[in-house]
Amino acid sequence: MTIDLSSPLELPCGARLSNRICKAALTEGLADPMNRATPELERLYRLWSEGGAGLVITGNVQVDRTHLERPGNVVIDGNGGIEALRAYAKAGAVAGNHLWMQINHPGRQTPIELNPHPLAPSAVALNLTGGYGAPREATEDEILDLIRRFAHVATVARETGFTGVQIHGAHGYLISQFLSPIANRRTDAWGGSLENRARFVLEIARAIRAAVGADFPVGLKLNSSDFQLGGFTLDEAIAAVGMLNDAGIDLLELSGGNYEQPAMIGLGGDEAARAPVRESTLRREAYFLEYAAAIRPVARMPLMVTGGFRTTAGMAEALNSGAADVIGLGRPMCVETDLPRRLLSGEIDRTPAWESLLKLAPGEVGPEVDAQRRQLIEMLGKQGWFCLQLIYLGQGKGAKPGMGLHEAFVEYPRNEAATAARLLHSHVQ
Ligand SMILES: Cc1cc2nc3c(=O)[nH]c(=O)nc-3n(C[C@H](O)[C@H](O)[C@H](O)COP(=O)(O)O)c2cc1C
Repeated sequence: MTIDLSSPLELPCGARLSNRICKAALTEGLADPMNRATPELERLYRLWSEGGAGLVITGNVQVDRTHLERPGNVVIDGNGGIEALRAYAKAGAVAGNHLWMQINHPGRQTPIELNPHPLAPSAVALNLTGGYGAPREATEDEILDLIRRFAHVATVARETGFTGVQIHGAHGYLISQFLSPIANRRTDAWGGSLENRARFVLEIARAIRAAVGADFPVGLKLNSSDFQLGGFTLDEAIAAVGMLNDAGIDLLELSGGNYEQPAMIGLGGDEAARAPVRESTLRREAYFLEYAAAIRPVARMPLMVTGGFRTTAGMAEALNSGAADVIGLGRPMCVETDLPRRLLSGEIDRTPAWESLLKLAPGEVGPEVDAQRRQLIEMLGKQGWFCLQLIYLGQGKGAKPGMGLHEAFVEYPRNEAATAARLLHSHVQ
């Protein structure tokens, strides 16, 4: 039987996704100065709901206001805003799609201006120049408190009308830090062996399942590899998935990388840390499909793969190879929110690949800017460009695909600084 993008999918908890396309988590930066949901989020998520994806996953929502991924994150830690969350959930599921809240703690990837000494498994700083402070090793009590916080946020998500949650265990944030032998140097029950490093994610999954009940979808986003020498490897991901089989996960999303090696958007990745993959599959568009195929035999839950999918042919191949049950779409959804509907109807057979289309135009920067600096402007400008599109959509201005990379490079940090300056509560412990 061939599976096409419009085939429904039943999840282990009994919930049903109406098709195989998911709008993957995209951080929005549209919360209010108390990190509560806003009408801008409602507007953005109504667009995505009406866009046709069977599953829409929110940008990362934090469990602690002192640990933000960026200043405009939504936080749920007793900061109020319950009615705003209800309105957000209602708008985001208006078309009958599933709407899952992604729950996160950024750990050492918290920007330094928001917290100079964030909590992490160990006091190991990111290997990046500037931007992130020296972390502090979490105590056992703090670890137990964090697990309770994840479960609390999941309960609030359920109570306010989100139809599921996704635990963010990927991309170098706190859970992924616990899994990484580089970031986690602990010698107690939370570090050392893979079993110990995976304890944090397992305990979070169990606590959430106990809090939300058996019939509520709980997803997990996990790195198929950190793509770093000495980091969390594909073999470890395979073993961790074996441990997660009994933790009540309804959908396992596979991604990869972290701030040091941004493989999740097709960049970085230490070549020496790549697992050998079959030559015939190397040219596939999706970054992590070979990794998903290696994880598939052990995973008893449905798998979603995100990163690089741009054609219906590539998506159908991934579904029919058995490596993926759901296709995640990220960057294309930043500009055209109705792509799933058009892909499903056959109106289009591919999405724009903005990540390769976007280039610094001649004359956008002066001749004094050297090649290295141009590369930096292009890389950071691209990330800012995608983030700004979501802000414009939320503000009702429409996407601005004609915006230049240099403009995005300048405007995005300005926007972030202004959002940080408006925050009304203390973000430093
Ligand atoms: C602007 C932007 C924001 C993102 N925010 C999140 C996030 O909040 N949580 C997350 O798990 N991934 C996040 N991602 C990663 C995407 O979910 C996805 O894994 C990545 O973009 C690769 O998929 P794509 O090739 O379809 O874009 C973000 C990516 C972009 C470009």
